[in-house]
Amino acid sequence: MASANKDHWSSNTYQASASFVPKLATKVVQYLDAKPSDKILDIGCGDGVLTLDLASSCSSIVGLDFSASMIQTAKDEAAKKNITNATFGIADCSRLPEDGKSFVQPGSYDKVFSNAAMHWILRNPETRDGVFRGAYDALKPGGVFVFECGGAGNVAETVTAFIASLVHVAGLSVDAARELIPWYFASEAWASARLEKAGFKVEKIELEYRPTKLVEGQGIEGWLRLFGAGILDSIDESKRDGVINHAVGLLSGTVTREDGSEYIGYVRLRGIARKPQ
Ligand SMILES: C[S@@+](CC[C@H](N)C(=O)[O-])C[C@H]1O[C@@H](n2cnc3c(N)ncnc32)[C@H](O)[C@@H]1O
Repeated sequence: MASANKDHWSSNTYQASASFVPKLATKVVQYLDAKPSDKILDIGCGDGVLTLDLASSCSSIVGLDFSASMIQTAKDEAAKKNITNATFGIADCSRLPEDGKSFVQPGSYDKVFSNAAMHWILRNPETRDGVFRGAYDALKPGGVFVFECGGAGNVAETVTAFIASLVHVAGLSVDAARELIPWYFASEAWASARLEKAGFKVEKIELEYRPTKLVEGQGIEGWLRLFGAGILDSIDESKRDGVINHAVGLLSGTVTREDGSEYIGYVRLRGIARKPQ
């Protein structure tokens, strides 16, 4: 697996190559349906763009993220905009019950929210059940966990190109290359079963194919370098540019449309799961 404990995120690079991520969260934000009395926990909040938007519709919101760079940007933005009901902390949410302890008092949130982060947080098979249990424990009875993340088949072309490139350029075996992929893209059936195992009643689970336009000027190379930073960090420095160039070459015909714009095949998994009263 890509080196799990290192911060591979830079909020500047995220905003340059993936500013579409929080902008495309309309549906999951509708599902969250934040109310003025809600106390919300946002797991994998990143640079806090969505968290700070949500702050205006709820009583208070706590954003947790693994990345110190993302959390610093979120705190700076909150201060700049004078938003006082949003607080942020660094926590590995794959170990939510242990790592989130100082931010997550059991039974204290009306809603737990997560956008575009659960496929990272669920990468390690050993901590997956704990993530759902952590969300469940954080909620008041009757509270809901509302999330969107990459689902089964997400960005399949880029995953395949990364693996091919790691094999051909960096000399890894297919299995070793696959092991470096830092995401877990769950199916609806898998997610439902795990949510129910944690005690939730699943109210909605859906998978949507949503081809997504990449940021002009950054394109597929910017996307691969941003989201594949952990993969690149795991291989010899001298091979990194070669791996990226090879993957870009493999993908260029597949992702490019007639007008030169680039799209990749995002598949979103969305869920609403309630903790019984
Ligand atoms: C694509 S960003 C999404 C950020 C934000 N929710 C949004 O919608 O813009 C994914 C975020 O997940 C965070 N992340 C990945 N693994 C994590 C973990 N184990 N614990 C907490 N955050 C994690 C990353 O640091 C990153 O900020």
